[in-house]
Amino acid sequence: MPTSDDVASLHFRGQTHEFPVITGSENELGIDIAALRKKTGAVTLDYGYINTGSCESAITYLDGEKGILRYRGYPVEDLAANSRFVEVAYLLINGHMPTPHERTEWSGLLNQHSMIHEDMRHFFYRFPDHAHPMAILSAMVVSLSTFYPELSQHRPEEPEEAIHIAATRLMSKLRTVAAFSYKKSIGEPFVYPRHDLKYCANFLNMMFSSPVCPYEIRPEVVKALNVLLILHADHEQNCSTAAVRLVGSARVNLYASVAAGICALWGPLHGGANQMVIDMLEEIRDSGTSVRDYVEQVKASKGRKLLYGFGHRVYKTYDPRAKIIKKCCDDLLSVLKVNDPLLDIAHELEAYGLHDEYFLSRNLYPNVDFYSGIIYRAIGIPKEMFTVMFALGRLPGWIAHWKEAREDPRFKLQRPRQIYVGPNMRVLRDEDKTREH
Ligand code: ACO
Repeated sequence: MPTSDDVASLHFRGQTHEFPVITGSENELGIDIAALRKKTGAVTLDYGYINTGSCESAITYLDGEKGILRYRGYPVEDLAANSRFVEVAYLLINGHMPTPHERTEWSGLLNQHSMIHEDMRHFFYRFPDHAHPMAILSAMVVSLSTFYPELSQHRPEEPEEAIHIAATRLMSKLRTVAAFSYKKSIGEPFVYPRHDLKYCANFLNMMFSSPVCPYEIRPEVVKALNVLLILHADHEQNCSTAAVRLVGSARVNLYASVAAGICALWGPLHGGANQMVIDMLEEIRDSGTSVRDYVEQVKASKGRKLLYGFGHRVYKTYDPRAKIIKKCCDDLLSVLKVNDPLLDIAHELEAYGLHDEYFLSRNLYPNVDFYSGIIYRAIGIPKEMFTVMFALGRLPGWIAHWKEAREDPRFKLQRPRQIYVGPNMRVLRDEDKTREH
């Protein structure tokens, strides 16, 4: 771990205190303020953790000003063009691209763990018809810990092999659970995973084939799905990954930690934005509002109405993933000969946003969610499932972070401080006291 002898000095109430400076491998700078309270009596206050690093991590590098994103050092553009999702998942979780032998072994393990326990299948029938698939997904993932309790403790002495199996099991089963939750929502029988199909093709087959109508697996669709999942695979300390790390810091098992990540991802400011983008495009289409008027409404709302799929906490330029997804979207729709009017509205919105002073001055550019939904629609995936697709993609990142945190001797229970601003000590009046219990 690269560190330097640099120190940062803080002048506070007549005294000078020194804090170590940490330098990352891409020269990112951090000031280690763990001793701040001990030295000064003060804590840092940073709503939304805008400027707070919670760990050192060797998984993903991103530069939001330059639009750079690399997994384990590899540019995401290279991986999207030349790899399959499962290889990228392996890279994120294990730190290196799989050798041919490791690739075969990993594929074999993914096949071996692709089924879910038959008892778990019955859970699906107990959810109401309108249940959101993200709620089902998180419930199913946490339920895995009841079927596979051998990893019920987040113990440092857990054999590496057990972690590897748990990670593989989760990778494979999440795909099955996602497809089953869709089948349940449309009242069709579940389609079981097949060992002769690769990860993405297998998922598409489970989603769209039925006993009466086999699904034609088109290579262009498989490629697009691989690209989408790769682009979602990790994004360093985003909200859901931070949730996985935070919940995992209490030493809870992998399944429970990932279920927490799924819940965080569901939110419309995070992964749920992909569904909100389509809602927004449909609203514009159905209301007959012009793109210009819609954008003016957003601007006038003072933050109450958002242009979903725009803006990012760390990207202050065009999200590199959005660039790739936009091209992938145009290419796929043209190959499939899909003419989606929502794509025209999206193009118009983007062009408007990219030239409007409101968005320019706030560095608001399209993010990963802006075009992904149009691809999912073209593939036939309904919008309620979009965030589930995001979860499928993000899973290797969550696993990699859970694993990295667990292996870090400095991994502590995450417990932020606060500045209390409530009332000073008060005394209960006689009339406030309950006399009968
Ligand atoms: N539409 C309109 N205005 C916006 C948008 C937007 N999408 N995003 C930010 N703004 C405005 C805010 O109202 C604020 O304006 P102000 O300075 O006049 O008060 C300013 O831009 C700064 O916004 P913040 O909310 O402070 O920025 P923050 O970094 O906290 O938010 C976020 C990032 C949550 C992603 C935000 O841009 C947003 O809500 N976007 C829409 C939802 C979305 O697409 N989320 C997906 C993000 S990618 C991902 O998580 C996978």
